[in-house]
Amino acid sequence: MKSKTDKIVITAALPYANGQIHIGHLLEYVQADVYSRFLKMMGKDALYICASDMHGTPIEINAKKAGIAPEKFVEKFWKEHQEDFSNFLIKFDNYYKTHSPENKELAEYFYNELKKKDLIYRKSISSLFCENCARNLPDRFVKGTCPNCTTLDQYGDICENCGSILKGVDLINPKCVECGRTPIQKDGEHYFFKLGNFAKDLKHWFTKEKTIQPEVKNWLQGWLDKGLEDWCVSRDEPYFGFEIPDSVAETGSKKYFYVWLDAPIGYISSTKNYCDKQIPKQDWKDYWYNGQVYHFIGKDIAYFHYLFWPAMLMGVGIPLPKLTTHGFITVNGEKMSKSRGTFFTAKDFLRLYSAESLRFYYSSHLDRKVIDVDINFEDFMAVNNNVLAANLGNYCYRVLTFAQKNYGQIEVVANHPEQEKLVMTLVDEIKNYYEQMDFKNAVKCILKVADLGNAYFQQAEVWKDKDSVESKAKVSFCVNLSKDLAILINPILPQFSEKVYTALNLKHVTWQMLNKKWKGTLKPVEMLVQKIESLPQSSTFPLKLVVGQIKEVRDHPNADSLYLLKVDLGSFGTRQVVAGLKKHLDKEILLNRKAVFCVNLKPAKLRGELSEAMVLAADDHESVAILDLEKSLVGDEVTFHGLQNSDKEVTFDDFQKLLIVVKGGNVYFDDKKLSSKVEDVKVIGVKEGTRIF
Ligand code: 2FM
Ligand code: ZN
Repeated sequence: MKSKTDKIVITAALPYANGQIHIGHLLEYVQADVYSRFLKMMGKDALYICASDMHGTPIEINAKKAGIAPEKFVEKFWKEHQEDFSNFLIKFDNYYKTHSPENKELAEYFYNELKKKDLIYRKSISSLFCENCARNLPDRFVKGTCPNCTTLDQYGDICENCGSILKGVDLINPKCVECGRTPIQKDGEHYFFKLGNFAKDLKHWFTKEKTIQPEVKNWLQGWLDKGLEDWCVSRDEPYFGFEIPDSVAETGSKKYFYVWLDAPIGYISSTKNYCDKQIPKQDWKDYWYNGQVYHFIGKDIAYFHYLFWPAMLMGVGIPLPKLTTHGFITVNGEKMSKSRGTFFTAKDFLRLYSAESLRFYYSSHLDRKVIDVDINFEDFMAVNNNVLAANLGNYCYRVLTFAQKNYGQIEVVANHPEQEKLVMTLVDEIKNYYEQMDFKNAVKCILKVADLGNAYFQQAEVWKDKDSVESKAKVSFCVNLSKDLAILINPILPQFSEKVYTALNLKHVTWQMLNKKWKGTLKPVEMLVQKIESLPQSSTFPLKLVVGQIKEVRDHPNADSLYLLKVDLGSFGTRQVVAGLKKHLDKEILLNRKAVFCVNLKPAKLRGELSEAMVLAADDHESVAILDLEKSLVGDEVTFHGLQNSDKEVTFDDFQKLLIVVKGGNVYFDDKKLSSKVEDVKVIGVKEGTRIF
């Protein structure tokens, strides 16, 4: 029988099935994966559980835009995400979905239990409704001025400037993010969870729970000091989610569980789905009631995981999990950005570098502090080449290759009690660091073991007298140290380890095999670490391309084919643009349209009128189309994938040399697609291959 703490569930946050996995996400999946692999090596019954988070307004809207049912839309990402994770050697025991029968059943179970205990009630509230889009606007779908500090352009959940927690209805001059129109206020009944009832229990929990990081304790105290408001757990139609039982009868309209109610329940339903599939069938309750659950999350979703989720669990009587919170990823010291060429999807990254290079880099930076991890690519290259390759990789590769080529067999292993003792002391430290999720120090100690091996091998100078019995025994000692290194680094670099195991013909490796003498026949070892030859190229593109909105269209006084446009370019100001569109596009079509403008073109007078920017358009000699954007905001930059826009002024001649073309309804330069940070730029109604000017 396994003891209580042997049954362990490890989770990483459930990613929304609504976009690509990027290197920012991967920090957490790697962190949890390392921990899960370590526990498994220690013989624990640990499950690494995850799922796609499939509900909510953004998914519903994006599916609608893509013209497919949300069920189908999320399925595509569900598959794609699993491929990305697997390519990064992230090994889930189960990767399920929140849009599943198990999750529906459990969400209803939670809801009914909470309702029975009088922890759910109904209340009428005002919310913002966009009559044009015919929907209630969730916090992230409305922007306006912060009522607290008057900063413009803030979302309805939090002010980025002063940090005030907002509601959409608090914003001054609110606008629908989708269509730019002013929403109205509507009253309606909603379901609330009595979060406020749990203040004392939450306080008790986080004061006593030793594993909660000190930074997080401070936030928690701050939130409690401000007072906990009850939590609205229902949403109106249209919504992609689970309908709340009896909501029509009780409120007069269909209500859905807010995505954040059923998302964390997805941790349980994925465990249940796993358990049900086992032969013999297992019981998820053995993990959730009698075992231990570890959640890994990012600091952005701390509020949900340290307040709402524990309160819900307390409400239904499930023991509380342990949590580890990490910071964000920055690239070269800044937030990842498409326009700066520092936004890497999982796929982008693997086109350039190996999965293990990132796993090693992340692990070398992760302890249990809630700090941001910066990928500085120069540092990344140095860590890979000078530490991973030159120290650990080189040692194992050199020793194993030397032994295999010269001896083929390991029979007698030199005894070095002092070194062995030192290694075993380090092994204990490494184990402790892994247990504490301090991978940074685990890596440091593993490198010390490799240092010791390197120094020993160097001093032994076995190549001078390689056929002697002593040399062979010394090399055998080194081979055994390589085996130990492979075991120690396994949670971080599973592929590296596997290659060493294969060379030694080792199967079912466990922690107990450390410092046990290995003897046997050697196979040639594969290359262990790839050196990095170059930094990611962030080339520049000569134009500055920006989303603008046409606010006025007039005829040019001196030219039949030209319009004078007044264009709002956000932070680039409002500018006059002379455009040769009059023969092709009516004024009404242009008015209020968003399009792409080049804003670093040298201003020029065209037939006596100043043109201060240029509208990009495709002309196939039959029709002319300007470029389409729906979701992007005025002033957002658009860039060709991986290229950075330039600020330097260009002439029309420079511009004409660029071959920008239409392919499959999108815009390309040199096979790189044009997009803003939220969407690809589209062109409709012109022939394939049409050039853009
Ligand atoms: O923030 C996010 O990406 C959410 N999809 C995380 C959900 S974690 C859990 F609660 F489901
Ligand atoms: Zn709208």
